[in-house]
Amino acid sequence: MLMLVACFLCATINYSVVQAGDPTVEYQWEVTYGTLSPLGVPQQVILINGQFPGPQLNGSSNNNFVVNVFNKLDEPLLFTWSGVQQRKNSWQDGTLGTQCPILPGTNYTYKFQVKDQIGSFFYWPVTGMHRAAGGFGMIRVFSRLLIPVPYPDPEEEFNVLVGDWYTKSHATLKKFLDSGRSLGRPNGVLINGKNAKGDGKDEAVYTMKPGKVYKYRFCNVGIKNSINVRFQNHPMKLVEMEGSHTVENNYDSLDIHLGQCFTVLVTADKEPKDYYLVASTRFSKSTVTGKVVVRYENGKGPASPELPEAPVGWAWSLNQFRTFRWNLTASAARPNPQGSYKYGSIPINRTIRLVNSVSRNGGKLRYALNGVSHVDPETPLKLAEYYGVGDKIFKYNLMADEPPSNLENVNIAPNVVNVEFRSFIEIIIENHEKSVQSYNLGGHSFFAVAIEPGRWSVERRKNYNLLDAVNRHTIQVFPKSWAAIMLTIDNAGMWNVRSEAAENRYLGQQFYISTLSPNKSTRDEYNLPETSLVCGIVKDMPRPPPQYT
Ligand SMILES: *[C@@H]1O[C@H](CO)[C@@H](O)[C@H](O)[C@H]1NC(C)=O
Ligand SMILES: *[C@@H]1O[C@H](CO)[C@@H](O)[C@H](O)[C@H]1NC(C)=O
Ligand SMILES: *[C@@H]1O[C@H](CO)[C@@H](O)[C@H](O)[C@H]1NC(C)=O
Ligand SMILES: *[C@@H]1O[C@H](CO)[C@@H](O)[C@H](O)[C@H]1NC(C)=O
Ligand SMILES: *[C@@H]1O[C@H](CO)[C@@H](O)[C@H](O)[C@H]1NC(C)=O
Repeated sequence: MLMLVACFLCATINYSVVQAGDPTVEYQWEVTYGTLSPLGVPQQVILINGQFPGPQLNGSSNNNFVVNVFNKLDEPLLFTWSGVQQRKNSWQDGTLGTQCPILPGTNYTYKFQVKDQIGSFFYWPVTGMHRAAGGFGMIRVFSRLLIPVPYPDPEEEFNVLVGDWYTKSHATLKKFLDSGRSLGRPNGVLINGKNAKGDGKDEAVYTMKPGKVYKYRFCNVGIKNSINVRFQNHPMKLVEMEGSHTVENNYDSLDIHLGQCFTVLVTADKEPKDYYLVASTRFSKSTVTGKVVVRYENGKGPASPELPEAPVGWAWSLNQFRTFRWNLTASAARPNPQGSYKYGSIPINRTIRLVNSVSRNGGKLRYALNGVSHVDPETPLKLAEYYGVGDKIFKYNLMADEPPSNLENVNIAPNVVNVEFRSFIEIIIENHEKSVQSYNLGGHSFFAVAIEPGRWSVERRKNYNLLDAVNRHTIQVFPKSWAAIMLTIDNAGMWNVRSEAAENRYLGQQFYISTLSPNKSTRDEYNLPETSLVCGIVKDMPRPPPQYT
């Protein structure tokens, strides 16, 4: 309730991107290349302030974040803030459809607010294949002091950025994709940039005091694989998922699909010694595994070399998904303040059913959704739209709401779907492929109401969880299965919906939702910030006067 009041107040006094009154946290980032050997082979990585993974961003609900990024790489660079909803502010979302990249040797300052949000999120570089080299880091958003958290404060909080890892450079991987090749298999799995040798000399990455409870924030920052995570001998109590407090179930292991974040509590109540935290790839022919040491303070004895097994097959993972529930009684910053958390009773305004496909075009791989394979034009879509020259850059609604009968005919073009402001939509993603998919939606969170095998039809709506589906931002789709999400598109702007698999995304499996303020009101969307970079055809055009009043 408190959050609702706070939000209506700020809606009436908005004028600029950073809200006066709410505290600001500031960061200065220097982004450089470095050489590290996370898998024993020296390779180029992307560092932020010399760190790999990058430094944590830390704040509380409604804090303003100011991040001044100095690009000292040899390529244009952009960061996105996965899970941060950027209310009214797709200008800072950091995707190529909304922002011009930061050129080498220059800096740009992101300014955004984590409005009505709590939880674990992460940032990552969206340009080229940069995420394959690092440049990612954790974003922790704490509850404001007034809002109770449904579990006692842990002794300490730990970040666990897990992901598959390639020893090839981001430039080599990009060359593979540009030349029609596939990424191939990863060389290992890293946990916070590390992998233990297991020779008894590994440093502890996490240290726990006996008897205490610790919070571990997991995000899958990899580029190809779902990851299963598990501790030796220690169950995990799930408490939060992508910004929502969950019903607190215990799990021996968790599948984290690309782009997803889970927060768990772990109690240090076992024999005081070392244990491994293990992460391994799922659903691939050749599994790769990483591990790091978790130590008990003053504990004695090395971790057992016997690693707990990962589950097999995706049915296990589907069953696990079905156990995830939103804790409806936990008070928290609620997204979608119009009350759409009673989503089960809202009439659906529009259904968009998407089918993914992969095909060859002129010998090169292309990934598509409903037959459209996205390319990023030099002029960001949002800028073109704002400057009134959108029609020179893209056409709305090339992609239909239903899959075409022939998915082989791929249209390679900017993929922008216009959605009416405040409409309540259902998006079905049907995966006809043999690999697991994972999709992220920007600017909003959604209710992940169902994942089921087979093909979707209207009757399948009876399988939806219309009561306590978790409100989140990334959903997996198992092979030969479908997933359904529901949400109110209530955040005016240009929002990226993308495959979290780097190869699929880079080769076209993404689109943008453009939703415009019907009243052209700054209540719904900020005007173009004065500091925004310009490029492409709008570079030398005069800046339009503020479009929203
Ligand atoms: C992170 O933010 C929380 C809440 O604002 C604060 O209590 C904590 O000290 C911060 N930690 C760091 C490392 O900045
Ligand atoms: C670049 O950094 C300088 C020094 O911190 C700052 O004054 C300036 O505003 C930054 N420029 C942009 C475009 O963010
Ligand atoms: C949900 O949150 C409430 C309120 O904070 C808490 O008391 C309860 O234990 C939580 N329920 C479950 C099932 O986790
Ligand atoms: C959505 O549907 C409801 C019920 O039919 C209708 O009242 C509302 O105007 C629609 N909203 C939009 C934005 O289409
Ligand atoms: C547009 O403005 C009118 C008048 O201020 C208001 O009644 C209406 O609710 C607004 N529409 C939307 C979709 O915000």
